[in-house]
Amino acid sequence: MRLSRQSSPQRTGVVVVSADAEFGSAVRATFGASKAIDLTLVAGTLAEQADTLDLGAATVVVVDLDAGSEEEMAALARLMARVGQWPPVIAVTQSFDEGVARTLLQMRIADFLVKPVQPVDLVRACARVAKGPGSGAEPADAKIYTFLPAVGGAGVTTLAVQTAMLLLNSGGPRVKPSTCLVDLDFQHGAVADYLDLEPRLNLAEIEPRPDRLDRQLLEVMLSYHASGLAVVAAPNRPAEMRSFDPDMVTRLLDLVSSNFEYVVFDMPRTWFAWTDSVLLGSNKLYIVSETTVPALRHAKQLVAAVKERLDEGPKPQVIVNRFTQRLFESGLRLSDIQHTLGDSFVSAIPNDYALVREAIDRGVPLDEVKPGNKITAQLKKLVIEPPKADGKPASLLTKLKFARAG
Ligand SMILES: Nc1ncnc2c1ncn2[C@@H]1O[C@H](COP(=O)(O)OP(=O)(O)OP(=O)(O)O)[C@@H](O)[C@H]1O
Ligand SMILES: [Mg+2]
Repeated sequence: MRLSRQSSPQRTGVVVVSADAEFGSAVRATFGASKAIDLTLVAGTLAEQADTLDLGAATVVVVDLDAGSEEEMAALARLMARVGQWPPVIAVTQSFDEGVARTLLQMRIADFLVKPVQPVDLVRACARVAKGPGSGAEPADAKIYTFLPAVGGAGVTTLAVQTAMLLLNSGGPRVKPSTCLVDLDFQHGAVADYLDLEPRLNLAEIEPRPDRLDRQLLEVMLSYHASGLAVVAAPNRPAEMRSFDPDMVTRLLDLVSSNFEYVVFDMPRTWFAWTDSVLLGSNKLYIVSETTVPALRHAKQLVAAVKERLDEGPKPQVIVNRFTQRLFESGLRLSDIQHTLGDSFVSAIPNDYALVREAIDRGVPLDEVKPGNKITAQLKKLVIEPPKADGKPASLLTKLKFARAG
């Protein structure tokens, strides 16, 4: 756990700019009572306050702005230029659309919330962004979901993209847990294509000096989807058959997992020197198979191999993709799959080629093509755990208190 370390209590400076009296009093009620937090509430619009705002003691800056106003967005851009790497800035907006999301991401806003903002959501967002600019001091705390192919073309990339989207949206409409999808198929990766993004991971630049890889360099190598999903993907080099230094790869993975709440890995078929450590570090390990006899056989062999190699690791679970309920005489039934795979079988994902193809061609997640589709629904049952009853404001305030310590 990130917060289980001994840390000396440290005061957290929260600076809030808002022209909205109601929001101001909600903020005062939320943060004002805590001894661990120094709240500075600046009344006024961002356009009025951006250039004179005192950031000296700020751990987090919250700006309440009208994202539809050019003047306000220009003020935000100036503020972001002044702020640089630290402190993180959270934007609170009245209206929201994809264009605003994209602009805020490009400005490197740490998080954004849409009014009406629940106090618990604001505290949660502050706690998250106040974690610090990746000094490497925080132990890894991400929940890691890894997708491994049993055969080529089984649907690993499709399911990994979709899972990352589900995790990103698992916090409700206003709070997005920081989520990163990492394409480890360095040779034939398709994640960036499936999401219509520019891949920005430059392994050749990191390789000679892996120690240079810090949060700042990671930021440069991330691509952001309009949804807010962070993606680590390298440009394809189809003709280049080589493996990378395992130390570099594990360093990259450590860094990603200590800077995000959820991490999803899209794995290649080839077993590299770093594969064991990825699998060992995962919380969930899914082996993706097709609904054919050879693919199920491969999946079964892979389950056995993983169990044998990585005794201590997560239990491999098989997802059978492109499953059709009523197949013709020769087709496999659910009972055949269960019989073959035993208790390592966890889910059958429906076949819907038209839907998946359209999503891939348009570079968007499945839900954008068809909200509530069966593939997403089935995957959701598998990857999203029901919310726990705890984690309410009191514990989050403690979290914020310790967030920057250490
Ligand atoms: N549930 C599904 N229903 C229908 N078609 C699917 C489904 N999942 C994936 N596909 C299709 O299967 C093909 C392979 O999918 P994808 O690229 O996700 O697989 P992969 O395992 O990552 O492949 P590779 O081995 O090339 O990395 C794609 O054409 C995709 O449209
Ligand atoms: Mg793939």
